[in-house]
Amino acid sequence: MIRFNLNGRWIENADIDPACTILKYLRTEVGQFDVKEGCAAGDCGACTVMLGEMTEHGIEYRTLNACIALMANLHNRYLLTPSGIGKPGALHPAQQAMVETHGSQCGFCTPGFIMSMANLYQNACINEKQALTDQEIHAALSGNLCRCTGYRPIIDAAKKMAELPKVDVAEISARAGVQTFDPDTATNSPEPLQYKDGRRLFMPYTEEQLKALLKAYPHARLWAGGTDIGLEVTQRFAQFDTIICVNRIPELAACTRGQDMGDPLWLGACVTFSQAETELAEPFPSFAQLLHRIGSRQIRNMGTLGGNIANASPIGDTPPVFLALAATLEIDGINGRREVPVKDFYLGYKQTVMQPGEYLRGIKLSQLSAEETLITYKISKRYDDDISAVMFALYLKITDGVIETARLACGGMAATPLIGEKTSAALSGKPFTLDTFTQAAECIGEDYQPISDVRASDTYRIQVTKNLLTKAFIEMNQKGDAA
Ligand SMILES: Cc1cc2nc3c(=O)[nH]c(=O)nc-3n(C[C@H](O)[C@H](O)[C@H](O)COP(=O)(O)OP(=O)(O)OC[C@H]3O[C@@H](n4cnc5c(N)ncnc54)[C@H](O)[C@@H]3O)c2cc1C
Ligand code: FES
Ligand code: FES
Repeated sequence: MIRFNLNGRWIENADIDPACTILKYLRTEVGQFDVKEGCAAGDCGACTVMLGEMTEHGIEYRTLNACIALMANLHNRYLLTPSGIGKPGALHPAQQAMVETHGSQCGFCTPGFIMSMANLYQNACINEKQALTDQEIHAALSGNLCRCTGYRPIIDAAKKMAELPKVDVAEISARAGVQTFDPDTATNSPEPLQYKDGRRLFMPYTEEQLKALLKAYPHARLWAGGTDIGLEVTQRFAQFDTIICVNRIPELAACTRGQDMGDPLWLGACVTFSQAETELAEPFPSFAQLLHRIGSRQIRNMGTLGGNIANASPIGDTPPVFLALAATLEIDGINGRREVPVKDFYLGYKQTVMQPGEYLRGIKLSQLSAEETLITYKISKRYDDDISAVMFALYLKITDGVIETARLACGGMAATPLIGEKTSAALSGKPFTLDTFTQAAECIGEDYQPISDVRASDTYRIQVTKNLLTKAFIEMNQKGDAA
């Protein structure tokens, strides 16, 4: 049984397939065509919807791509689509502003833009904020593509909407009564959602429930944000006998940071990129800036750190950072809990040490002292919403002008995210000088033998990594990081 609120109306239906995408359900099951299908791959934003969750602060909304998100995501939550955000007889400010600034031409992308703008409006303008910055607008629209109007009138609309009469979409969602916020509800409703045709989708709310399910179904496919696995369904028509959604378990979605410098930072495997952007802004600013470059706002609202690591893609953006920071992964499951340094986690292309019946619980990171620095660079063809050709992460500990420890880790340079052992050794124990970095850069070709593909040639990848090493030195030197 799935129960959710669609534009202010509660729907409760045992026949809803929890593994159907939200987009497919809306367009084919309820005949609601205001949500468009463009790429069906999370890239274009035409299918953007707002997902509301009851929290202690009221209903909080975020955007997501309906084309790759499953109906199971909606259970006990609020869904808003373009036709549901205005008040009777009045458009939502995002819609009104688009009309007034002529922001729509063919209109295919427009519903998705409207939803991204409405979500920005809801989170920023409802609390009396009058002007949105260009940065806020660009970040909110980074996952919406328009090929005809041009972005200027759309950005004008985003600026204008803050001046228009207020509409609070939470009042629309709450029209038919609200789901009261009960932090304990989660722990006592382990409702199994049956998949169609005898297949199964489970949504455990505690780790005990998850372990019991893994005991019964050790080969079940784990589903967190679904931004990787969702593509298997929409692009390759994959069907899984058993799916276990792990993203409603509070421990896995938690992020905790001790007060003392020596205390580790804990990031649950289901912490989303958006969550991590906020949580890491202060302890790891370079990491937080990198997270801002991952996918789009919609993808960052869905995708998780654990999914990025467990997916074992050689071009995932966060594994090189965790490698450079010498993070530890906590793995749990039917055989008990164990800790694995991230450097020992990857066995080969798309292969990890995790066994059937196990799940990634979270990531432990040491906080950086004044002598320690993390630098990250992402090289991709587009700034927003693009996959890395090279992902570069460098950790340095410098004491009295000497590099005590160095760890370079790269993505896109080998079959797995990989530490450049020789380059790291060539930096360690040496003075922090351009000479040291120039000599270390010569080891990059020994550490990495990348392939050529659509994103970059092997030669380019090697050269750009060498250049990034020099760039890291120049930037640190300018900032006086090694003083
Ligand atoms: C349009 C688009 C843009 C993207 N841009 C980027 C980008 O710029 N950079 C980047 O790095 N990635 C990008 N990605 C890829 C994707 O968003 C990330 O890899 C994301 O971190 C996957 O997390 P998820 O929670 O969505 O994983 P899911 O899709 O839910 O799962 C991915 C894999 O991990 C497994 N898994 C998930 N959670 C666990 C767990 N707790 N324990 C064990 N196994 C688990 C699943 O079984 C599956 O095999 C993009 C994807 C899309 C669709
Ligand atoms: S249809 Fe393109 S992102 Fe969903
Ligand atoms: S108005 Fe045509 S694609 Fe955006």
